[in-house]
Parts: sequence; structure tokens; C-alpha cells
Amino acid sequence: MILKKKPTLTDHHVTDESLYKARRSFIKTMGAGSILLGSTLAPGILSAKAGKPDLKSELTRYKDITSYNNFYEFGTGKSDPAKYAHTLKTSPWSIHVDGECSKPGTFALEDLLKPMQTEERIYRFRCVEGWSMVIPWQGFELGKLLTRFEPTSRAKYVYFETLYDPKQMPGQKRSVLEWPYVEGLRMDEAMHPLTLLATGLYGKDLLNQNGAPLRLVVPWKYGFKSIKSIVKIHFLEEQPITSWQKANAVEYGFYSNVNPEVDHPRWSQKRERRIGEFRKRKTLFLNGYADEVAVLYKGLDLKKNY
Ligand code: MTE
Repeated sequence: MILKKKPTLTDHHVTDESLYKARRSFIKTMGAGSILLGSTLAPGILSAKAGKPDLKSELTRYKDITSYNNFYEFGTGKSDPAKYAHTLKTSPWSIHVDGECSKPGTFALEDLLKPMQTEERIYRFRCVEGWSMVIPWQGFELGKLLTRFEPTSRAKYVYFETLYDPKQMPGQKRSVLEWPYVEGLRMDEAMHPLTLLATGLYGKDLLNQNGAPLRLVVPWKYGFKSIKSIVKIHFLEEQPITSWQKANAVEYGFYSNVNPEVDHPRWSQKRERRIGEFRKRKTLFLNGYADEVAVLYKGLDLKKNY
């Protein structure tokens, strides 16, 4: 994530129309109930109704979302994941759940997904490096899955791990980060209805470079919290240490909330560049989701808890 040179993308801001149409027909074929566009369950995507900008008109192109990535398991360049992530085998896939919960176990992904209702959520996504996208995810609320494992009252945090297998993820042969990639959330953040586990985007299954088969999406936090290709979920009492904290605790904190008032030690976080645009936009506090999630941080000094 350490920005070594400026992005060189020259794409202009156009939603890929054919894909958008494909997506609309996908939604039709899925039928009512499987995908809730503008769902009443999700305050964050009721943007038009709440008088906020309609994110649908700002969608980042599918091509950009799938070719400009951070997935260090496949290299540190933005185009590396799209080039090299084909070595990851995403089926069969299982997820191990343990720690402070009454129903731990190792579960086949299809069994975990069967009862989950997939919806579409169009979210802003902002990287700490200063670029952003608007992505139509397919997924379900993380909280609805976590509840099934019956976390105990001692579960104050939840922690996720990406697969560790240097044969499938050759970037793990280099010690750019301590592997496996790990991330964590406070339980109330994890249980918040805006927090998603995504299985797809633009109406298609996730490509490997975007974190197939299952990745986290926390729209009010910098992109690095959204851990990809999850194989482990662990409930715990103490705050875990994340991969980026291990790599550089001065620059990356546990909370990692999008906050234009807290500069990264080496650059400002006040503005961002939407991929596909040249102009810079003002970064919004909590990435524009403050109405929904600011309450989680009441009384917390967000300059200290960055
Ligand atoms: N998850 C894993 N396992 N490995 C990574 O390197 N990069 C993070 C996050 N999740 C990363 C990860 C960072 S820095 C960002 S910005 C987002 O994934 C990028 O997601 P995208 O490539 O789908 O846009």
C-alpha cells in the first residue's frame, strides 16, 4: 500500500454500459428477493431517498475494479493481481471458525452461503493511498453469518485471515508483509448492517484479484480493512494486531476509519481521486457513511484511535 509512484491510469469516467446492462439482466434473472437494490435493510444505500447523491450514476468501470488492485499475495503492483491471481484455486473452499463462540467448526463455503440472501450494495470504496471507486457488490451482512456461530459475551473483536499457501499465492514467498494477511473489527463494527461479506460484483462472481471466493467490505474504513480470500474467522476478547499494524503501526492503526482530518504521516487524506476521473474530490468523513456509523465512535478520540 505504500505509494511509490503516481497511478498512471488514463481511463475516463464512463460506466461500462454493456456490463451495466448485463448486470440489470442478472438482477432480473435472480428474481425479487435475492437481490435488493436500494434495500430497506441498508441505510447506506438508501442514498437517493435520503437526499444523498445516487451512487448508481457514479459506478466505477468493471474493467478498472478488476485490473487496478491491491492483493500483495500476488505482487505489490496494481496490475499484478489481475495478471497472477489465476493460480489461486477457490473451489473447494472452507472456512475455519473458532475462539469465543459456541458453534466453532470448519465449514464448506457452499454450506455457509446456502442460507444467506445475497443483495446488491453500491458502496464507495476508498484506499488509504488516495484513490477511490464506487462498486456494486453482491454480498450479505457479515453480522448475519457471525450470529450463526453464537459468539459469547467475551467476544469483543473478530479477526479474519486470508489463505496462506505460497504455491497458490506466490507473493507470500516475499516478506513484504507478515503472512497470512490478517484483519480485525470490533464486534459492533462487524455486526453493523453496512458491513458486508462479498461474493461478487457487477452481478458476477468475484474474480480472484478482488478476493474470491469471499472477502470483507467495510465501506467507512480504508480499503485495507477489507480482507480478501478469507479462510479463518476468530472471535476474541483482546484487540488483535492487523497485518498493516505489524508492518508499520505508526502509519496504520486498528480503526483505519476514513477521516480527512487525520493525515497519513506521509500524505494528506483530505482529497481522493476516483479511478476513471482526473479531478480530485473531497474525502468525506467516514467515507460518507457518518450518519449510519459515527455513533459507533462516540467519545472515542479518532486522532489517537486512527
Ligand atoms: N487482502 C489481502 N489478503 N491482501 C491484500 O494485499 N489489500 C487490501 C485489501 N485486502 C489486501 C487485502 C488493500 S490495501 C486494499 S485497498 C483492498 O484490498 C483493495 O481491494 P480491491 O483490489 O478489490 O480494490
